[in-house]
Order: sequence, then structure tokens, then C-alpha cells
Amino acid sequence: MALMRSMLLAASKSQWLRERIPQFEFSRRAVARFMPGEDLSSALNAAAGFQQLGIGAVLTYLGENVKDAAEARRVTDHYCDAISRIAETGLNGEISVKLTQLGHDTRTEISRENLQQIVDRAQRSRNFVWIDMEDSSYTDSTLDVYRAIRSQYSNVGVCLQAYLYRTRRDLETLLPLSPGIRLVKGAYREPPHIAFPKKKDVDTNFMVLAADLLNTIERHKTRVAIATHDARLCERIQKIVIEKDIPKNAFEFQMLYGIRSAAMKDLTQNGYRGRVLISYGPAWFPWYMRRLAERPANLLFVLRNVLSS
Ligand code: FDA
Repeated sequence: MALMRSMLLAASKSQWLRERIPQFEFSRRAVARFMPGEDLSSALNAAAGFQQLGIGAVLTYLGENVKDAAEARRVTDHYCDAISRIAETGLNGEISVKLTQLGHDTRTEISRENLQQIVDRAQRSRNFVWIDMEDSSYTDSTLDVYRAIRSQYSNVGVCLQAYLYRTRRDLETLLPLSPGIRLVKGAYREPPHIAFPKKKDVDTNFMVLAADLLNTIERHKTRVAIATHDARLCERIQKIVIEKDIPKNAFEFQMLYGIRSAAMKDLTQNGYRGRVLISYGPAWFPWYMRRLAERPANLLFVLRNVLSS
């Protein structure tokens, strides 16, 4: 299983595969399980469906490692338009961006300026922007950009990954900013000196960090999103909430479109707040490989699509 995960994560970095696999009809059919469509309208329609169930959305336009400043500008304009469309349609929908899609690889400053434009646009629409966390080579620079932007705007949060040894320390240094934090396990291939290699240890650290985060809500005015599909961890978090008498609406659960939707419905029916992250856009290949790596059993689903094509 670990070998398969490694192979899928290595494939996610291949430019050759990135250019070829999306051309096959079977791959487009398989990816439809995790995204409602490639255009913004499909994502907005899906968000409207969740809204009827009392579930919010976070929209993300897929793409990463954009090397061209003009393309990064185009992505920035796309997000600004998306924020306008969300406001026009009255949706409870936020957005989530990757700094490398906003030009971070070209120059950190470019991504910071593009992000600022998006966050500023969101602030005027009373909306909120999340910053995804990419692989560990970007952790420092992503947190630097986050600190800079958070000192100017309150409507911005960042993702932290429980598989990194450093995350508890990062969380401590961010708390004075009253940050928005989305806690995830982590989706990239990392060496054992940087990240816990064993799932059991990642899960343990996730719970430690989640408990820490829940404790910061009142004292540090942290906005907390617990982003996992792990039923056992979700149950343990609900236990802490009851034991510590934390209001159910003081934080939210977040999950990805197409994964454990019934569990998200149950949580919101039980009084918790929930959001589904809806991805869209044609540049889905590396993101889709990471989804397969999270659960290599998903490859059977791909295989069925190959056989039926
Ligand atoms: P785990 O992988 O243990 O899965 C628990 C259960 O969930 C599985 O047993 C299975 O039932 C189901 N499941 C999980 N993944 C599945 C899949 N792909 N297909 C089918 N079933 C699946 N990562 C990152 O590095 N940077 C980021 O910015 C983000 N952002 C982000 C936002 C949101 C809202 C979520 C939910 C997740 C992310 N992630 C992320 C991804 C995250 O790091 C992690 O890889 C996935 O959430 C899978 O981990 P789980 O916590 O679900 O646990």
C-alpha cells in the first residue's frame, strides 16, 4: 500500500503524464467522482445543492506550479470573478487558493500581490479566502505570505498539515495573529525526517493539534476548520467538544466533494457546521493523483472505467 501511495505521488509530479492522461475519456469519467465539472458554473451548482442541506462550500480552481506571471494573473482574475459570482448567487461559498498557482515559483512577491488582490476582493464581498498548504518546500514561504496578508486582512486562513513534525510549533507562532486554521493530515510525499512516515502517528498528531486548536477558539479568536474524512477522528473530536462544553457552531468540519458526503450530512444534522471543498478546472491531474494516493483502492474504480471504455 505504501509503495502504491509513493508511486501515485511520484506520478502526480510527472509533466509527461500531466499532459497525456487527461486526454483519455476513461480518466475524465473517473475524475468526475471527485469534481462536479471543469467549469465554475458546475462548482456553483454543486455548492447550491449543498446549501440546501445546510452545508457550506469552498471552491478551488485546480492548478499548481504556474511558472508564467501572465497565467498567474489570469488565475487571480478568475478567482476575483468567482467571488463576484458567489456574491451574486447568494451562496455560502468561500474560496481556497494555492500560492504556486498565483506565481509563487516565479517570485514570492508575485503570489503575495495576487493573493492580496483576491483577499481584498473577498473582503469587499464579506467573503473568506483559504490558502492551501503544498509540499514542505513551500511551508516557510507560505506561512510568511500568510503572516504578511493576515496583518492587513482578517478574512484569510491557512492550512496546516498534521504529518509535519514542525506543525505544532507553527501553530504556536501563528496564534497571536488570531489566525484561520484548516487542519489536514497532509497529501504530499515527504521524507521521514520531515513528516511522520506512519499513518498511526499522523492520526495521533492530528488529534493533538485538533485538541489544541479547539482550545484556542475562545482565547485567541481562532477560526478553526477540522478537515478530515476519518470517522474515528471525527468521533473523538465530537467527544472533546462535549467534554469541554465547546459550542458545536464554534468551529467547522470540512470534507472534499465526493468523499463521505453522508457523514457530512449527519454532522450538520447534529448541529455541527460543515463545508465541502469543491474543486473544478481542467488542470486536475496532480490533484487527482493525490486523491488516488489517499486511498489506492480508488484505482479499482479507475480500472472499471478503463474496462468499460
Ligand atoms: P484518511 O486518509 O485516513 O482517510 C479516512 C477515510 O476517509 C478513509 O478510510 C476513506 O474512507 C475516506 N477517504 C479519504 N480520502 C479518500 C479518497 N481520496 N477517496 C475515497 N475515500 C477517501 N492536504 C494538503 O496537503 N494541503 C491542503 O491544503 C489540503 N486541503 C484540504 C482541504 C480539505 C477540506 C480536506 C478535506 C483535505 C485537504 N487536504 C489537503 C487533504 C488531506 O491532507 C488528506 O490527504 C485527505 O483529507 C485524506 O485524509 P483524511 O484526513 O480524510 O484521512
